[in-house]
Amino acid sequence: MKKMKLIITKNYEEMSSTAADLVIKQIRWKNASVIGLATGSSPLGMYRCLSREWKSGHISLSEIHGYNLDEYQGLSKSDPQSFYYYLKTNLVDVTDFKEQNLHVLDGMREDIDSVCADYEKDIRASGGLDLQLLGLGETGHIGFNEPDTSFPRYTHQVKLEEKTIMANARFFASPEQVPHAALTMGIGTIMSARKILLIVSGLPKAKMLYQVLLGEVRPSVPASILQFHPDVTIIADEDASHVVREKTGFGGTTYEL
Ligand code: GLP
Repeated sequence: MKKMKLIITKNYEEMSSTAADLVIKQIRWKNASVIGLATGSSPLGMYRCLSREWKSGHISLSEIHGYNLDEYQGLSKSDPQSFYYYLKTNLVDVTDFKEQNLHVLDGMREDIDSVCADYEKDIRASGGLDLQLLGLGETGHIGFNEPDTSFPRYTHQVKLEEKTIMANARFFASPEQVPHAALTMGIGTIMSARKILLIVSGLPKAKMLYQVLLGEVRPSVPASILQFHPDVTIIADEDASHVVREKTGFGGTTYEL
């Protein structure tokens, strides 16, 4: 099993371009890659870089299939706060990524169990995830897998933690508008990806990143499970890696953990 690779970048911009380079490398290696997508503020800059590279004619995303990690319940595709809308505007509309290749859990349907089971089947039928992109929640969540007493295996429904609702309220007009439930890939779904790329930016994530990378692997820190994945790259900016650097004495830019 390879060690986890940690790349430390100066700032958000460098984190974004380094992450985009790894995605581009994956696409060049396999045009029709199946990529697990992420939303939130962390990957925004990376999507911007991918769009720039496409506009300059360096890459094509037309063969990629994307499966997003998660979706709020009760928000339709056309709701500007839905993750579908995010990916439509930040990926589909600004590159040649085909909308029919964009797969996002449907948070409007009531037959939640079949939505979740079908998502798992669809990912498997497409050959499995070649690369999973991840951001890190302040609670240590990946996707919407909140701290728990066990690691949920498959795609499922979750109740969001108060801290997550408050953290995501910045995207909504008021905290009351943030849905309290969501659908998310399970930890097992995420861990089934052949490669994982976690990007982390900003001081508020610094303590959590230390626990994730160097703490005990436990379901109360969901992202700590990544320590058991055979091929993980973490790209963290100086702020997010602050505690890791302080506790380990790392002074350079690339490490194996
Ligand atoms: C959200 C999403 C996650 C995301 C995380 C971090 O709640 N469900 O997929 O990675 O929180 O978000 P941000 O990048 O905006 O800090």
